Amino acid sequence: MNNPIAEKLTTNIDSIDVNVIRADFPVLDQKVNGKPLVYLDNAATTQKPRQVIDTINEYYRRYNSNIHRGVHSLSEKATAAYEAARETIRDFINAPATQEIIFVRGATEGINLVAQSYGMTNLKTGDEIIISEMEHHSNIVPWQLLCERTGAVLRVIPINDDGELKLEAYQSLLGPKTKLVSIVHISNALGTINPVKQIVDLAHEHDALVLVDGAQATAHTGIDVQALDCDFYVFSGHKMFGPTGIGVLYGKTDLLNAMPPYQSGGDMIKMVTLEKTLFNELPYKFEAGTPHIAGVIGMGAAINYIKSIGLDNIAAYEHDLLDYASAAVSDIKGLKLVGTAKKKTSILSFTLGNIHAHDIGTILDHEGVAVRAGHHCAMPVMERFGIPATARASFALYNTREEVDTLVKALKKCKEIFG
Ligand code: ALA
Repeated sequence: MNNPIAEKLTTNIDSIDVNVIRADFPVLDQKVNGKPLVYLDNAATTQKPRQVIDTINEYYRRYNSNIHRGVHSLSEKATAAYEAARETIRDFINAPATQEIIFVRGATEGINLVAQSYGMTNLKTGDEIIISEMEHHSNIVPWQLLCERTGAVLRVIPINDDGELKLEAYQSLLGPKTKLVSIVHISNALGTINPVKQIVDLAHEHDALVLVDGAQATAHTGIDVQALDCDFYVFSGHKMFGPTGIGVLYGKTDLLNAMPPYQSGGDMIKMVTLEKTLFNELPYKFEAGTPHIAGVIGMGAAINYIKSIGLDNIAAYEHDLLDYASAAVSDIKGLKLVGTAKKKTSILSFTLGNIHAHDIGTILDHEGVAVRAGHHCAMPVMERFGIPATARASFALYNTREEVDTLVKALKKCKEIFG
């Protein structure tokens, strides 16, 4: 290594052999626009290791069958694999019971489920829901709709110039009217890691429930829902090396039991007559219709993959990469980081002079570098910083310092092109 920035950094990343890991991800081995692909759009979706691809492939090739219904062998095998994945996921987030793991399409659907099922049943005019200024639209709009329908009021925790929550403001928002706090664990637009345990404890002092949006968290940090004591936790498979279209809502048993079904149809019933229906027990009460069986099994495989490397090792490696990248971009004149929280995950959101983020994204793409450009489905964050958009490089365990160097070179090229 002859990069001076790299040599300055001390690391504890020996447990990750990035070349071995890269070999697990077939998509990385290709050229885009004639240049080796540098995939830095992991906050949008992560790539999939062959262990996940092979697991899904095997399901469709060898035992594709519907679950919970058949008496035949293939159906039994598919059901066993589906339920084994539920147990893998329960263990991964340390939930007390598998019945608390509800399969949904993703974090977005998990939040909508809680807003519709819990919210419509329990909230009334004048009740308050607290979110923050750094939420993804999926943790804003469902609550706005719920407020419109119930007369509840949405309150918002502001953020400071580094993109951290103002916790004193949060404390002053909490009160007897607060019924629910819905907060992002890690911001997709800023990378900020929020103090969710503290947020939960403060809310519980006011008897308010807490939902945590963990979409950006589960591939980067260990989750223990019992230690957090959150009431609901949602996350998506595709942001943690699993398939798209599958995610999880964790909820405490008592709450889930008291909530009405979100969608209705097959599998969520115990008994149906033309007059009435008895609903199935948890978790099936919330899983109407044939689910995304391959998705669930694939998500289980993704978690096994993460476990085989170790989340602590992943976090250490990504943190090192973030430090390296933050240092490397700091000498690009005109580049301004948006999101400089003390506790951050591997996301670099930035503006570059007056160059529009979409132009940055296009030039980088010509160099083979994939980043996201835009408001990142977090328009209030952009408004808070007075900008229309950022370019965002987000790193995963298969990215390298050399790729960061390629990003930096491409950004310098952007500057040359746009003067
Ligand atoms: N929420 C995803 C992102 O941040 C799509 O890019």
